[in-house]
Amino acid sequence: MDIKNADLTSIFNIATTQNKYLNDLHFFTGAVCLVILFIVTGLLITIVAKFRTPESDDGSEPKQTSGNVRLEIIWTAIPLAIVIVLGVLTAIVMVVVNPAVGSKKPDLIVIGHQWWWEYQYPKYGVTTANEFCLPVDKNYLVEVLAADVNHSFWVPAFGQKMDAIPGHPNYLWLHPTKKGLFLGTCSEYCGAQHGLMRIMANVVSPQDFETWIEAQKSSAPPSDDPAAARGKVAFNSATCVQCHHVAADAEAKALIGPDLSHIAQRKTLGAGVLENNTENLTKWMQNPQQFKPGVYMPNMRLTDDQAHDIAVYLESLK
Ligand code: CUA
Repeated sequence: MDIKNADLTSIFNIATTQNKYLNDLHFFTGAVCLVILFIVTGLLITIVAKFRTPESDDGSEPKQTSGNVRLEIIWTAIPLAIVIVLGVLTAIVMVVVNPAVGSKKPDLIVIGHQWWWEYQYPKYGVTTANEFCLPVDKNYLVEVLAADVNHSFWVPAFGQKMDAIPGHPNYLWLHPTKKGLFLGTCSEYCGAQHGLMRIMANVVSPQDFETWIEAQKSSAPPSDDPAAARGKVAFNSATCVQCHHVAADAEAKALIGPDLSHIAQRKTLGAGVLENNTENLTKWMQNPQQFKPGVYMPNMRLTDDQAHDIAVYLESLK
């Protein structure tokens, strides 16, 4: 699916059962608050209108009253009851949305990096970056971590945010109810490119999910384009392999930068900076700072031919 047609990045575009509970609580609490607002405002206006000083007022002190046990019990009991009801409902929603994880193993591990996302599917031995898949109608346990500084994983249509903290795993349950592409972003300030740490969540049918996982597990088939063959040699001789992992390449086994095993399948480069195509990838490699100032990928001073060949090679990794 095209990013431009991605589903609205709104918390009200409910795409998980968890977000349904959060929205229900949100609207119920909002409705209660609105009723209180109308009652209090109505009473205030009525009292101001009804008890304003009459024309005939002689200026003497009005009748004084002090203490009314019945009234005081009523106006203590009603707000107390409202707070208790809202508190209990909130507690119920918290338990339903974030049930105890116990000894369960995560289905997906999300790791925030400056400034991209790593996704690991430990049950399948699959790792990818910035774009990930979830099967619809399954409750997925997501472990959220960070590699460097604090980040926060947030896809608004999925509901809550979850802090990504180095050395402190947090957990999030996601039970998608709708297929589609859902966008999110890092929502904890994490440095220069905090704003370009985009999340692309693809929710697909369980069958499509299995197909996707199988494709991720296998190495991309080699291309017969001579530029790709030259690009692979250049990729391995430049320092690309010091940071990146490519399943199909015996020399590219580093785990510092995003996994590039199937980079050609991604929609964007640089976690949402550029559309993913050979031309943009060539430009990106020749000067990443131009597109994402502060990015840790250095300018490798590649010649036009080298950059083009490497881009052709990477774009062959389907
Ligand atoms: Cu990562 Cu903000």
